[in-house]
Amino acid sequence: MFDTLKPAAPDAILMLMGLYRDDPRSDKLDLGVGVYKDAQGHTPIMRAVREAEKRLFEEQNTKAYLGLAGDVRFNAQMTDLVFGGSVDKTRLRAVQAPGGSGAIRMLAELIKVTNSDATVWVPDPTWPNHIPILRSATLKTATYPYFDAATSSVRFDAMIDALKALPAGDIVVLHGCCHNPTGADLTIEQWNVLAGVLAERGLIPFVDIAYQGFGDGLDEDAAGLRILADAVPELMAAASCSKNFSVYRDRAGVAFLLGRNSGEADIAQGQLQGAGRVLWSMPPDHAAACVRIILEDEALAADWRAELEATRSRMLGLRQGLAEALRRQSNSARFDFIADQRGMFSRLGLSGDEVKRLREEHGVYIVGDSRFNVAGLPGDRLEELAAKIVAVL
Ligand code: LMR
Repeated sequence: MFDTLKPAAPDAILMLMGLYRDDPRSDKLDLGVGVYKDAQGHTPIMRAVREAEKRLFEEQNTKAYLGLAGDVRFNAQMTDLVFGGSVDKTRLRAVQAPGGSGAIRMLAELIKVTNSDATVWVPDPTWPNHIPILRSATLKTATYPYFDAATSSVRFDAMIDALKALPAGDIVVLHGCCHNPTGADLTIEQWNVLAGVLAERGLIPFVDIAYQGFGDGLDEDAAGLRILADAVPELMAAASCSKNFSVYRDRAGVAFLLGRNSGEADIAQGQLQGAGRVLWSMPPDHAAACVRIILEDEALAADWRAELEATRSRMLGLRQGLAEALRRQSNSARFDFIADQRGMFSRLGLSGDEVKRLREEHGVYIVGDSRFNVAGLPGDRLEELAAKIVAVL
């Protein structure tokens, strides 16, 4: 049976991890996969998560199943964190999922059950795993214009024109904040215009919010999603705890759906949970339990917020530092956009060949589209990195 198989196409991001591991150079630099690293190049366990794990160890007295929705107290806390005071909560439902990717996969299944003819529109560009996940649920996908490589900014007019031409019922994937891979986000005014267009055209937003707290702050980063949730009758969202709680490998996330009324939301939740039952039965508990312990405890939550805020400002400082180093080394303003963008990623705007030379000649690992992980930047080697980037131009 297996002799008929062809090798799977490598994942553009994960492939880099292997190449980096096998590189013997001591000055190599991993700016590939989106994982936060501190000044020592280490991805720490957050203080509040450590404390929550201790409490969980002491207090948890069973590993019996929790049910299809996962930990409902975790879901309630995440609902507050993501949606804040927005939206009529009687229409909102949350189901725990194995990470943000799991939430996207579940929601894709829900789209298939409710409207398998819908096309799911993703921004061009988007996270490389969006289309494979959506297609794995046999959904049709297509792209709408989003990023202008020439100006390193959002092509908002082109985006809106494209969305206005879509048939009602189609789904529009949006990055809630910290757009991956470009770091170029919508402004509040643009979210408001977008909300009007989606509502008027009967398009259903599907918001992927994987970096809440990494851009401008916890509430600021969810502002766009909240604007949409207040404006449209139906919406889906996938939230991830991987980055903002730094629980990457433990897989905690939430699939949200907003229905036109409570009854429809209940039915959709049942279908969503049915999808989870087939995909993984019930979601893993550990990280979600830790997140719940943190968010239910005022002191722990405050400590988590403080550490997240330190993480966020460190990334902003690195953005600033690299933009300045590149300005000096390239003697141009070409890379100034790095300081203005937000989140874990930006694109340097290099060609595939320049990316390859950066890796092969200088040991600097960035994704093929020239996306680099801001959180992987070494604060004390920005000048050296800038020189290496300029050397391959
Ligand atoms: C990334 O884009 O690097 C992260 O979201 C990790 C992943 O799973 O690709």
